[in-house]
Amino acid sequence: MKDFRIKKMLELQTPYYIYNMKVLKETLQTVAIEANKYGYYVHYAIKANANIQILSIVQEMGFGVDCVSGGEISAAIDAGFSAEKIVFAGVGKADWEINLALEHDIFCFNVESIPELKVINYLAHLNGKIAKIAIRVNPEINVYTHHHITTGRKENKFGINLDQLDDVIDIIFMLSSVQLVGLHFHIGSQITDMVPFKLLCKQANEIQKKFIRRNIDLKHINFGGGLGINYENPDEFSIPNFQEYFDVFNTYFFALNNQKIHFELGRSIVGQCGSLISKVLYVKEGSVKKFVILDAGFTELIRPAFYEAYHVIENLTSNEFADVYDIVGPICESSDCFAKQRILKKTHRGDIVAIRSAGAYGEVMSSQYNCRRLPKSYFF
Ligand SMILES: Cc1ncc(COP(=O)(O)O)c(C=O)c1O
Repeated sequence: MKDFRIKKMLELQTPYYIYNMKVLKETLQTVAIEANKYGYYVHYAIKANANIQILSIVQEMGFGVDCVSGGEISAAIDAGFSAEKIVFAGVGKADWEINLALEHDIFCFNVESIPELKVINYLAHLNGKIAKIAIRVNPEINVYTHHHITTGRKENKFGINLDQLDDVIDIIFMLSSVQLVGLHFHIGSQITDMVPFKLLCKQANEIQKKFIRRNIDLKHINFGGGLGINYENPDEFSIPNFQEYFDVFNTYFFALNNQKIHFELGRSIVGQCGSLISKVLYVKEGSVKKFVILDAGFTELIRPAFYEAYHVIENLTSNEFADVYDIVGPICESSDCFAKQRILKKTHRGDIVAIRSAGAYGEVMSSQYNCRRLPKSYFF
């Protein structure tokens, strides 16, 4: 946080998000350099942060975009992304969203079920279009991350199970308004260990064989997102290890000639550039604990309440010795807690606190519960 001008921050109405654009740009440059080594295509997962200033920078640097709703498709188009670089995933695409995607001739629908496949075919037919599709395969891999953010296990709602792939291929052969262009995978989020990605590559190699046996040419393989960030140490590890990540796919996945490899990275691109800034309303001494009560709650940053997520929290205005606190928000729910028994500089009413690594799944998930105002955002 040293770079941010604390004096200026004191003048602004809390709670709000600040984004360090230097970190964002350096991260994007690193992604581009590492992906370009292998000719990989990166679609920014807009769900991680749809702030227009962030989208504009991602778009200017030439990345594609991964959308999971009609609203995200519109946000991407408004931010200047070309429709040719839009992939559209999501287990429940509504008819109007499919029509919107068809209208814009997006690059590819990631299809998650047989009923969805048939609806896309039907709507494409009505629109006089051929929809390009990738089958989202559930690779049935166990990923050790929080259970709310795994997506590639057999029991998850996402993707098509391995034992249904032959049926799906048979159906695609019978449909005239869809064109199969590839496969899509996404195994989960906040994955910092490379082992699940290696397993994904091995599984993808096996799955690919099935398509080869059936003489199907898969032009594109999309490995989704999921690369994690270092929440414990955001200053030392502000840029994730993209080199190691892409290298895994280059080493373990056997791409066919001319096959294009895509990724949908969200958290790893925007996670470390954002912080939530909040003011201390009260320091309450309970009979067994001390509570720091902030003016930000889970309405501004839901990750700790939702996923038991850890964020570094810094008191930016105190220089006194540390104390131990539960750091909570003002929302009328017991789950509105950012950290339990956390060491913080001795804290007083009016102090300014930064909740770090909040650039992904932070502002974009904020809500107006308790009729609260949505947070503003500032850029340094
Ligand atoms: C289909 C899909 N692609 C990409 C992402 C982005 O994941 P991450 O932010 O972990 O990179 C997600 C996140 O949930 C997703 O569901």
